[in-house]
Amino acid sequence: MKKTILITGSTDGIGKLAAIKLAKDGHEIYLHGRNAEKLEAVKAEIIGLSNNENINGFVEDLSDLEATRQLGEEISKAIPKLDVLINNAGIFKSPVATTKDGLDIRFAVNYFAPYLLTEKLIPLLKKESKPRLINLSSAAQAPISLESLSGKSPLPAQSAYAQSKLALTMWSFYLAKILPEVNVIAVNPGSLLNTNMVREAYGRHWSSADKGANILYDLAVSEEFEKVTGKYFDNDKGETRGTFGPAHADAYSVVKIEKLINATKGIINSISEANE
Ligand SMILES: NC(=O)c1ccc[n+]([C@@H]2O[C@H](COP(=O)([O-])OP(=O)(O)OC[C@H]3O[C@@H](n4cnc5c(N)ncnc54)[C@H](OP(=O)(O)O)[C@@H]3O)[C@@H](O)[C@H]2O)c1
Repeated sequence: MKKTILITGSTDGIGKLAAIKLAKDGHEIYLHGRNAEKLEAVKAEIIGLSNNENINGFVEDLSDLEATRQLGEEISKAIPKLDVLINNAGIFKSPVATTKDGLDIRFAVNYFAPYLLTEKLIPLLKKESKPRLINLSSAAQAPISLESLSGKSPLPAQSAYAQSKLALTMWSFYLAKILPEVNVIAVNPGSLLNTNMVREAYGRHWSSADKGANILYDLAVSEEFEKVTGKYFDNDKGETRGTFGPAHADAYSVVKIEKLINATKGIINSISEANE
């Protein structure tokens, strides 16, 4: 069955490769990027490669929380329903560490943006039976400093990245509990895949970007994952494809998840009040 699929950060890396694979199957694909020209070029490239005209896209910088909220509204008006949302956009190295909202850019793009965007898009997902929400986690997961989450205590890039990915994973497990009608999976697509992010951060890679794109494809449309929710897929556990496995221990702590979600709501509220 043809699905409607939105992939954030699909102008490059594993998001783009997954979009190409899904487009070739005839699914209706919504791309997303932060650069309008790049998005248009990728859209044209994917239409050319797939012969699928049902490729469209949205542009927004996910480091800006208000812009992310507006993106959610724009998408809600443009699309009647959504079968699959892949929160893939992510950042590690950045010339600018702090966003205009005063957050570390890793926390903003990798955690707050998917949190806010998903909140806006849940009604679209709920219009479908068995909708899937796929959140891009990482093997790098580190306990969260709530001071750093709020931007009050700056961190090195690696720490902020790892904390943002654990936050995303904890929130994924929380969502799976409160939203039983949506299948929520957090996935480590594989470590040091050959993408811009990894080239900029490490200057070397361990695996092809296809390894990550292939698992995103499977999680999005394979029947195998039709009934799975509240789990962490670890694509490092296997040469070509991984298995479900344990996330960081904090992702299973009800108390820590509650503290994270309360802190997240407080930070989002204070930023939106400041923006009014
Ligand atoms: N590669 C790995 O080994 C690896 C391992 C674990 C997890 N992951 C996760 O997998 C996801 C994809 O990573 P990747 O390796 O494919 O990275 P990538 O090649 O750098 O692609 C990242 C995508 O996110 C977009 N993006 C970055 N900052 C943005 C912002 N502020 N607003 C909107 N879009 C933004 C990029 O846009 P541009 O095209 O404009 O740059 C690009 O489309 C990330 O969440 C990453 O953390 C990757």
